[in-house]
Formats: sequence, structure tokens, C-alpha cells
Amino acid sequence: MKLNVIASFFALFSILTIVVSCNKEGGNSTKISSIGGTRSHNQGNNCMNCHKSGGEGDGWFNVAGTVYDSLKTSTYPNGTVRLYTGPGGTGTLKYTIYVDAKGNFYTTEAIDFGSGLYPSVQGSTATHYMAATIGTGQCNSCHGVSTDKLWTN
Ligand code: HEC
Ligand code: HEC
Repeated sequence: MKLNVIASFFALFSILTIVVSCNKEGGNSTKISSIGGTRSHNQGNNCMNCHKSGGEGDGWFNVAGTVYDSLKTSTYPNGTVRLYTGPGGTGTLKYTIYVDAKGNFYTTEAIDFGSGLYPSVQGSTATHYMAATIGTGQCNSCHGVSTDKLWTN
């Protein structure tokens, strides 16, 4: 009887240990994408579903997303994302984020969206400009969901 009680305490303890380690949250370490980088994953998903305060992702991203080629079936590597105060690349260039070898871009640096910033995506032969401003850097929350995937060429 006593042994059974002790055994069930041990069983409960190990279950609790497993639950606690599965709930481990990713910390907010600095992560910024760079040309040629290969550490990212989950192309097309909204990175900030996980890479946020309390989320499981490693690093809390303030801007992140995925760029595709013109057919929108393959990702487009090593492009450049920029955030301007004016439309069509006008105003002040506030932030530049490089797309990695997997077509993903991400940064944990603080981003001040102010009253809204205009994004652009540059490939080797073209630059595409978003006509409206954004107040969130969760590019894949709209692109590939409620509007076209981000793309360039
Ligand atoms: C379903 C949750 C989830 C989504 C969505 C997600 N990630 Fe992650 N990410 C993680 C977890 C968990 C880790 C830490 C373990 C690992 O490296 O796989 C991580 C780690 C990373 C790392 C760090 C790898 C390293 O070795 O330093 C990068 C970079 C990254 N993710 C980029 C992205 C990008 C970009 C997106 C969106 C296109 C994204 N992640 C979407 C969960 C996610
Ligand atoms: C709230 C939803 C939303 C978010 C967030 C968003 N976009 Fe957009 N984006 C749109 C919509 C809708 C369009 C199409 C109309 C337009 O250009 O304004 C668009 C268009 C674009 C275009 C032009 C596409 C083309 O084919 O010419 C680019 C480039 C772009 N977005 C980049 C970005 C980047 C980079 C981010 C993240 C930093 C981002 N967008 C975040 C909704 C969003």
C-alpha cells in the first residue's frame, strides 16, 4: 500500500516535469535575417504566431514574412525589404531587412511604425511597393491569406 502511494507520487512528478518542459517559452534573443542565411523555417506561415512574447519561437519578431518568385510557388531568396515613411519609396527610409536564402526575412529590432510605414520588396530586377501603410510587421498575416503572397523578381 505504502509503496503504491510512493510510486504514484513518482508517476505524478514525472508527468508534471514533462508538462513543464513542453511549455517552455522561446526567449527574446536578437535574431535578424541576412543574405544567405539558412536558419529560418516555416515559409509562408505568420512567423509571429510563435515568435512573440510568450510564444514558443526563439526571438520575438517585429517584422517578418516570406518572399516568393513570380509564379508564387517557390520562395525568392536574398532580396531586400524596406520600410519608408512615404509611398513608392519616397519620404525617409526607416528600416532595411534582408531576405535570407530561404526567402524569409525577420528582425527582433524595435520598429517604430509611427502613423504607418510603406513597405517595399526588392529582387534582382524589380522593386514592388505596397500602396497602403502598415502598422504591424506581421506580413504573412495578410500576404498569402487575405491578399497575394509577397513576391518579386
Ligand atoms: C509554429 C511555430 C513557429 C512558427 C510559425 C515559426 N517559427 Fe521560427 N521557431 C520556432 C521555434 C519553436 C524555434 C526554436 C527551435 C528551432 O530552432 O526550431 C524557432 C526558431 C527560429 C529561428 C532561430 C533558429 C536558430 O537556429 O537561431 C529563426 C531564424 C526562425 N525561427 C525564423 C522563423 C520565421 C522567419 C518564421 C516565419 C516565416 C518562423 N520562424 C515561423 C517556432 C516557429
Ligand atoms: C494588414 C494587411 C497587410 C500587412 C500586414 C502587410 N500587407 Fe502588404 N499588402 C496588403 C494589401 C491588401 C496589398 C495590395 C494593395 C496595396 O498594394 O496596398 C499589399 C501589397 C503589398 C505589396 C505590393 C505587391 C505587388 O504585387 O505590387 C508589397 C511589396 C507589400 N504589400 C509588402 C508588404 C510587406 C513587406 C509587409 C510586412 C512588412 C506587408 N506588405 C504587410 C496587405 C498587407
